[in-house]
Amino acid sequence: MKPTHKLLSALLAASALYIASAQAVTNDDIAARIKPVGEVCIAGQECKGIEVAAAAAGGGAAKTPESIVGTYCGTCHNIGLLDAPKVGDTAAWQKRADEQGGLDGLLAKAISGVGGMPPKGTCMDCSDDDLKGAIQHMSGL
Ligand code: HEC
Repeated sequence: MKPTHKLLSALLAASALYIASAQAVTNDDIAARIKPVGEVCIAGQECKGIEVAAAAAGGGAAKTPESIVGTYCGTCHNIGLLDAPKVGDTAAWQKRADEQGGLDGLLAKAISGVGGMPPKGTCMDCSDDDLKGAIQHMSGL
């Protein structure tokens, strides 16, 4: 093979790889975009779009209030799905805290579930402290 041919085929191989990886990203993006709005993620089941979002937000092995809200609670609480109190709407959370006797009352409701709010907000492997941190993060209380 002439040196120019070698170079050409190396270039071709490189661009084929590039196109293949660009395609993979696009497919993931599309899958994320066509996910139904408000899809509920159950711990232990695959829930790709949201896991990707959580990973991007710094989630992963260690649970932080941010990653818990990003992975679980935010599905409903970001947009107020089913009348969930919204992230950052401190007044709405304060009203509920007053009704439940403070943050620990809210925590008890979060553990048991209430109305459209599933037990533990679907984070079945969250400890009470994990849930409390997530509530504080969402409410600002
Ligand atoms: C499937 C949707 C959904 C998810 C996921 C969810 N919530 Fe909720 N949450 C709700 C709804 C709806 C309400 C309002 C319930 C009502 O008052 O009838 C609510 C209310 C609450 C309340 C207030 C309870 C009260 O007594 O007023 C707390 C605290 C709470 N959620 C915490 C969490 C936490 C923490 C997570 C994540 C670990 C979470 N939620 C995930 C839907 C959700």
